[in-house]
Amino acid sequence: MAKDNAGNPLPPYFNIDPDQALADLDTPTTTGGFAAIAEACARGRSDLASRGLDDAGRKSLRLFSTWEITRYLIPVAPAHFRRVLKQNPDLPQGTSETDGGAKWFTLDEVLRLRAFFGAQGSKAKNYLPYRPEGLPAKLVAVANFKGGVGKTSTAAHLAMSAALDGYRVLVIDLDSQGSMTSIFGGKVDDEWGTAFPLLARHYGEHLRADNQRRLDRGEAPQPLDESLTAALDMSARDVIQSTHWPNIDLIGAQLNLYWAEFQIPVWRMAARTWKLWDALTDRLEADGVLNDYDLVFIDTPPALGYLTINGLAAADILLVPFGASFLEFDSTGRFFDMLHSTFASIEEGENMAARALGRPGMAFEWDAVRAVITRYDGAQQGELAALVQAYLGQTLSPHRQDFTALIGQAGEQVSGIYEADYRDFNRETYARGRETFDETYAAFKRLLLGIWRREEREAKGELAV
Ligand SMILES: Nc1ncnc2c1ncn2[C@@H]1O[C@H](COP(=O)(O)OP(=O)(O)O)[C@@H](O)[C@H]1O
Ligand SMILES: [Mg+2]
Repeated sequence: MAKDNAGNPLPPYFNIDPDQALADLDTPTTTGGFAAIAEACARGRSDLASRGLDDAGRKSLRLFSTWEITRYLIPVAPAHFRRVLKQNPDLPQGTSETDGGAKWFTLDEVLRLRAFFGAQGSKAKNYLPYRPEGLPAKLVAVANFKGGVGKTSTAAHLAMSAALDGYRVLVIDLDSQGSMTSIFGGKVDDEWGTAFPLLARHYGEHLRADNQRRLDRGEAPQPLDESLTAALDMSARDVIQSTHWPNIDLIGAQLNLYWAEFQIPVWRMAARTWKLWDALTDRLEADGVLNDYDLVFIDTPPALGYLTINGLAAADILLVPFGASFLEFDSTGRFFDMLHSTFASIEEGENMAARALGRPGMAFEWDAVRAVITRYDGAQQGELAALVQAYLGQTLSPHRQDFTALIGQAGEQVSGIYEADYRDFNRETYARGRETFDETYAAFKRLLLGIWRREEREAKGELAV
């Protein structure tokens, strides 16, 4: 090895021999080279993805132990838990790996047990998560135009915590990279299995109504092409799939969903009055989705394109994850700036038309917007996080989600903390990793319950709207 004058090894970038470098080089890459690389990735991916699938080739969710249930899911004393099960042989009794060993339950069984405990006793209320009657599901979008900031991880973990808490959850993947879809084992063949047909139907219906007006005026209608006609027959239920979680459903994504970014502006050019930002909200509402679920989590691509705008406009709660570093804070500030100009220009355009017609204007509104610090390293980032907190005040979620090795370590088939079996980790590492995501959920849930309570009281006329 080459050494410097003091005898230390030289840095690795010195003394590279060009002839040796040439000998190691492969041939130049052509366009077709990308296809070959993509194909190698696809094969590797399906190898990874197939590990740990059940016989039917689907993901399966692990079991939950009596310890975990009584510690994290139904907070009763383990002895009481066992007693109640013994007294009620009709309840799920769990299975054990060894004779007399710990009992393990499926999540489905946990949900039935929770319903039972929830219907009993004095503190029972607490076992069932609060959801005011008669109010629609809350939609939560997780967005930031920077990639790798923890959007998908945060959305997936919140969805799983909410499901463990007993809520009925729908996850909508608007990112054509489909990470969220992989996490939930979704199968999507093309854009017709994604949110795309819902957007297409919204436009198709607009066009149909528009055509009726044209006919009434004696003008020629605009043609509805084949795909719009097909979309008019589709509902949210056609694209919702179940997952390996009994109370999480999915509208998946796939590369073709990106097509929407090109199609939507073309539609908008053809019909200037089409409210493209309302498409997702309107279709979810019209198809009754907001009554079937308690929470809808929308994962968005790292861009402020038409899909993200639709997701954000549909959202009641907006979460913006970012890391406590200068660059991520800086670009998150710009993201908020872009949000302002994007939605302000939509409002301006709409309200100009409304004023001309003497109609009331519109304004977007979100129940709450929170920036969330993710992948936090207290030893390195404390100062920056404190500064961010000072400037953002209440907009910053009070909990900083710690960096945890559990996320990367969990393995191919398990996505994050809640799918991992705690026996695979040092108990302390597990408890710490889980705690930070439990706290992330707790901060979110406090927000959610406050918002639901506000609406409940407004509906009863107890609060001025
Ligand atoms: N709290 C965390 N601790 C450790 N790694 C994390 C954490 N949150 C996210 N990551 C990792 O950071 C990377 C980017 O996260 P991801 O959620 O995919 O971001 P985005 O959706 O914004 O692109 C992933 O490799 C993910 O596993
Ligand atoms: Mg993502």
